[in-house]
Amino acid sequence: MSKTNVIFHQEEKVFHLNNGKVSYLIQIEEDGVVSHLYFGKSFESYSNHKKYPRRDRGFSGNVPGNSERAYSKDTLPQEFSSHGSMDYRIPSSIIRRESGSNLHDFRYFDYRIEDGKPELKGLPQVYTESDEEAKTLVLTLKDRDQEIYVDLIYTIYSDRPTITRSTKVRNLTANSISIEKIASMQMDLTNSGIYDEVISLPGAHVQERQLQREKINAGIKTFESRRGTTSHQMNSFIALVKHDTNEFSGPAIGLNFVYSGNHSFEIEKDQIDQLRVLIGINDYNFSWQLNSGESFQTPEVIMVYSDSGLNQMSNNYHHLLRERVARGIHKDRQRPILINNWEATYFDFTSEKIKKIVDEAANLGIEMFVLDDGWFGHRDNDNSSLGDWSEYKEKLSDGLKGVSDYVHQKGLKFGLWFEPEMISIDSKLYEQHPDYLMQEPGRSPSASRDQHLLDMGRKEVREAVETQIRKIFDTVNIDYVKWDMNRSMSDAYSIILNAQNQGETAHRYLLGVYELLENLTRDYPEILWEGCSGGGGRFDTGFLYYIPQSWTSDNTDAVERMNIQYSTSLAYPISSMTAHVSASPNHQTGRSTSLKTRGDVAMSGVFGYELDLEQLSAAEKEEIAEQVQSYQKIRPLVQYGDFIRLKSPYEGNTVAWMFVSQDQKEALLFLGRILTNAQAVFNEVKLAGLNKEFVYEDVETKEKYYGDELMTIGMYYPDFYGDYQTQMIHLRKI
Ligand code: GLA
Repeated sequence: MSKTNVIFHQEEKVFHLNNGKVSYLIQIEEDGVVSHLYFGKSFESYSNHKKYPRRDRGFSGNVPGNSERAYSKDTLPQEFSSHGSMDYRIPSSIIRRESGSNLHDFRYFDYRIEDGKPELKGLPQVYTESDEEAKTLVLTLKDRDQEIYVDLIYTIYSDRPTITRSTKVRNLTANSISIEKIASMQMDLTNSGIYDEVISLPGAHVQERQLQREKINAGIKTFESRRGTTSHQMNSFIALVKHDTNEFSGPAIGLNFVYSGNHSFEIEKDQIDQLRVLIGINDYNFSWQLNSGESFQTPEVIMVYSDSGLNQMSNNYHHLLRERVARGIHKDRQRPILINNWEATYFDFTSEKIKKIVDEAANLGIEMFVLDDGWFGHRDNDNSSLGDWSEYKEKLSDGLKGVSDYVHQKGLKFGLWFEPEMISIDSKLYEQHPDYLMQEPGRSPSASRDQHLLDMGRKEVREAVETQIRKIFDTVNIDYVKWDMNRSMSDAYSIILNAQNQGETAHRYLLGVYELLENLTRDYPEILWEGCSGGGGRFDTGFLYYIPQSWTSDNTDAVERMNIQYSTSLAYPISSMTAHVSASPNHQTGRSTSLKTRGDVAMSGVFGYELDLEQLSAAEKEEIAEQVQSYQKIRPLVQYGDFIRLKSPYEGNTVAWMFVSQDQKEALLFLGRILTNAQAVFNEVKLAGLNKEFVYEDVETKEKYYGDELMTIGMYYPDFYGDYQTQMIHLRKI
């Protein structure tokens, strides 16, 4: 392990966080204004030569109480800006006091350096397994006049180019204050020339996380969700890059927010081309009343620095999220190959139909059956029964236990779908507790998919759901749970909160969901959990703390999945990305693709099926049995190997990525081409991440290659014929 240090140079008043991979420098300026000096590649010694230069700029006024005209917060790069002392850039916080004033001026107060990392209570987070793994700097600022304190929390991790950041506000005044905005982190970058582009992951339902890369221009650019969840529309991750940064070279700073609700990533390029980056809970639909003596802890942001391109950044996220965010016994275990009945039957199934699917699945070697939506209440379509988590006896004549027992007798594991945060008007729960539905009394709420949110910020509401779920877990043998959420938040109002606390509803909702997940995952540790929100609407690092995998998208079209999986891998590990082979023509796009293409694409994730096996020909079933066996051989490599992106589907007609085992003795190459033409060019690809010295053999063709040559001169794609062609090449060291 390299040395991880947080040093305070007393004389220069500079903090240096350094672990041999990254350095972060913070300076305490005159009068205690805290400035940002540097974040990037690690170095050992700092001589204090890079103090921020001073210049008197017109209309950039001065630091309160200091008459130095060249000293202004309007241009000074800072760690936590104050609202109202002539910094006109986007503020890190808006905190309103009893007087109605929101003016603040936060200055250095104190610091402490600790081994390890303090726990963020009730929030998902990066954890450490021993205090040697990290060092934490808590830098405390205080308002110039008021007893309002802000702790800036920085944790630097051994052997990872990673720093996490969060903020805690403490109110030691005699009165309440209202937090109307609070960033988890601020970073002001002085030389925007180094980071002149930003990558984000916008999208839509069935079109999540589409890689977008754009120039950072003057003004403010925001990437955010206002939907109460991470959202399909904008994922909670961005990367700052240089225009010529690519997968293998150039600088990149990844910023990944460990939160599953309304988020906001703001970037401002200021009047002298400097960047301010703010990340936190979105101030839309948010305020938090902090009474005297109370504190508010924000969720955290994971910053990863790479000096050699995006693959290195992603690789660091993959390791960190797998090793120190995901928890529980399944985080390092090989995940079962499942079959889910959703696209096979939708709501239209019986015990008999399910048994037939299970029989077929057992014959093909599939390892788990997942019963999706429609098994509870009287749910024959999506208009009813959410909130009533007891079996639909008329539909499942054998009962849930009967189905589970049957599945287990056939040698498969059994999984079950839930949507715990929802209520249908047509449900017993609504009949008994109409007030559990989140709405402002007297104002009719907005339905979506004919369903409504439960107010998960209320303990009794959570308990009503939790009791029902526990009853099923205690009576039916369940190996896996799919935790779904099929609408965005509206009508954010909680009947248990006072008028001045209503702005807390959305955040309290999420804290309630996290608490419920924490309780259930703790008490049923054997269950494998999969997150879902209409596919990938809540695919984020916060949820990964409770559940190790997530349904990547309701879009199972193999061609569109290449794009979705490619860009999801920027921030999230392959072990978190579930991918299923579904019917052709595809139900979302109407596109026909071969079973091979669908298999190859889905095998690049946590693999499974989602189609009616009974409808398939004998030849197709045989092919599926082979796919299952192939995946079992490559599963550890795919789920826990290093993933490398080689060719982007966003840039051309071909796609390539690969997986390499930690010891480099095994690799798997995925090649894809979207459209063909009669005189198709010969495509080539150079591999990466192999050992130069090793000789590899193609497991199937027995052809031999030197690692060196594969990475230097590369290989040709197969001479594909037709659209939507793919190939997997499995290499092993000989
Ligand atoms: C969501 C999920 C699907 C399926 C349906 C059931 O859309 O993403 O996989 O579970 O709900 O209603």
